Amino acid sequence: MNNNRKVEERFQWDQNAKKHSNISPTFPKLLLSSIFLISILCLFYTLSFSNASNSSNHQLSTSKTIRVISKEMPSPVSSPRGLNPVVKTNLHHIVFGIAASARFWEQRKKYIKLWWKPPRMRGIVWLDKAVKNGSSDEDRLLPPVKISGDTSKFKYKNPKGHRSAIRISRIVSETLRLGFEGVRWFVMGDDDTFFVPENLVRVLSKYDHNQLYYIGSSSESHLQNINFSYGMAYGGGGFAISYPLAKTLAKMQDRCIQRYPGLYGSDDRIHACMAELGVPLTKEPGFHQYDVYGSLLGLLSAHPVAPLISIHHLDVVEPIFPNVNRVQALQRLKVPINLDSAAIMQQSICYDKIRSWTVSVSWGYAVQIYRGIFSVRELEIPARTFLNWYKRADYTGFSFNTRPVARHACQRPFVFYLANALYNKDTNQTASEYVQHRISRSECNWKMADPSRIEKVHVYKKPDPHLWDKAPRRNCCRVLPTKKKGTVVVDVGVCGEDDVIELR
Ligand SMILES: *[C@@H]1O[C@H](CO)[C@@H](O)[C@H](O)[C@H]1NC(C)=O
Ligand SMILES: *[C@@H]1O[C@H](CO)[C@@H](O)[C@H](O)[C@H]1NC(C)=O
Ligand SMILES: *[C@@H]1O[C@H](CO)[C@@H](O)[C@H](O)[C@H]1NC(C)=O
Repeated sequence: MNNNRKVEERFQWDQNAKKHSNISPTFPKLLLSSIFLISILCLFYTLSFSNASNSSNHQLSTSKTIRVISKEMPSPVSSPRGLNPVVKTNLHHIVFGIAASARFWEQRKKYIKLWWKPPRMRGIVWLDKAVKNGSSDEDRLLPPVKISGDTSKFKYKNPKGHRSAIRISRIVSETLRLGFEGVRWFVMGDDDTFFVPENLVRVLSKYDHNQLYYIGSSSESHLQNINFSYGMAYGGGGFAISYPLAKTLAKMQDRCIQRYPGLYGSDDRIHACMAELGVPLTKEPGFHQYDVYGSLLGLLSAHPVAPLISIHHLDVVEPIFPNVNRVQALQRLKVPINLDSAAIMQQSICYDKIRSWTVSVSWGYAVQIYRGIFSVRELEIPARTFLNWYKRADYTGFSFNTRPVARHACQRPFVFYLANALYNKDTNQTASEYVQHRISRSECNWKMADPSRIEKVHVYKKPDPHLWDKAPRRNCCRVLPTKKKGTVVVDVGVCGEDDVIELR
């Protein structure tokens, strides 16, 4: 507690810069530390140089389009294909296949640019028709584009769907045939899917890429899952196919597609072939198809205790932050992702015992303050801030538990959205600031402290890149005492051994 308070006092939103401009007068000390720093830097340089040259010898191919020397590339690999299981899976081992169409390209490429990291990632955007490409500076920030092979000879007999489903289904095989080197996983996604690549790597590195894996997640819509299958990976949420599975699939996919002309989409065609191959879906709850309308607040603020990997249907759901457009909203989300990707959207719940408030933090996104004490059991269930895929507020339409949004004026939470986040080297902590989203609300006559006076919430947290190397557990939080007016200060971190949230 004491320690946390010190941290809080030390932290100032605008003082980081000032601190660095004050040059210390103690010259000899400075000289000594400079020499130390320089030698460390030299060592680093040598290490990373030898790393890079090794990896380019062993792993990287001659192909011009994919010559990447990743800083994250681990030390020498003995196997020529880079399939040595001892080397932990990193971004370079993943090749993306993005399904797009010429018609929406101008708009949708803005979404891809948000998460695509040009020198470190590999992949292709597959289009139906030619688009302007290759000349502008912007194109260098995007994956290379290609036009899918002709599929006119395939039968398509679904009355509701579109035959582009066949083209999109074949992206796995077409990407495989490009012959990228050292691939462990092919990851499919749509042009309106936002990925958190660091978390994708965290999840895929748990699995042996030398085996046959089909990894993804189902729909939020119970009816969609009944129509299609609970065992199908929904394409927009993104799914991963291990290299050997892609190879196996590619050998039979075209014949397999011909056996199912009546299916609707591309992902159910993949699923049908997976069923034939006998490979079941491995579900990872961080892939999000988001077959819903409205606000994602309820879903994102009660995210499963699993890394957030994707957000889909960006053009269907509202921007995740109010009063900005969809691209701006995701740009803001990237600030905390860059500081502590493992923690993004992770929920922690604690109490202000003095004022009898419940605080629910969704790290990097939003904080909600409730009057009164709510159990964790209740708050870990997403509130229905969204409609189902048939635009109804019917709770039986979801494939998971939901709870109603409180109607009673006193029970409605106060929502604070992320405004900014930064990292303090001295304390090895991030500080994220959340500002109250003011909405008109009816009078509450409960005789208790009123959260409407709170302007901001400050959350302190140590980045924890190894969070998901351990068994999943929700983070713990504590409301800290503060003298800052109109501010609630919260500390979020790994729970202590005996940390349980008890109300008494
Ligand atoms: C990219 O542009 C070139 C012409 O500059 C064109 O021939 C090619 O088809 C385009 N590719 C795509 C995928 O639009
Ligand atoms: C799913 O089933 C419902 C109810 O039978 C139907 O109205 C809807 O059109 C179906 N959707 C698809 C994509 O088949
Ligand atoms: C910061 O704390 C995390 C979690 O304890 C640790 O993994 C990381 O190495 C620390 N970083 C620094 C720079 O001390």
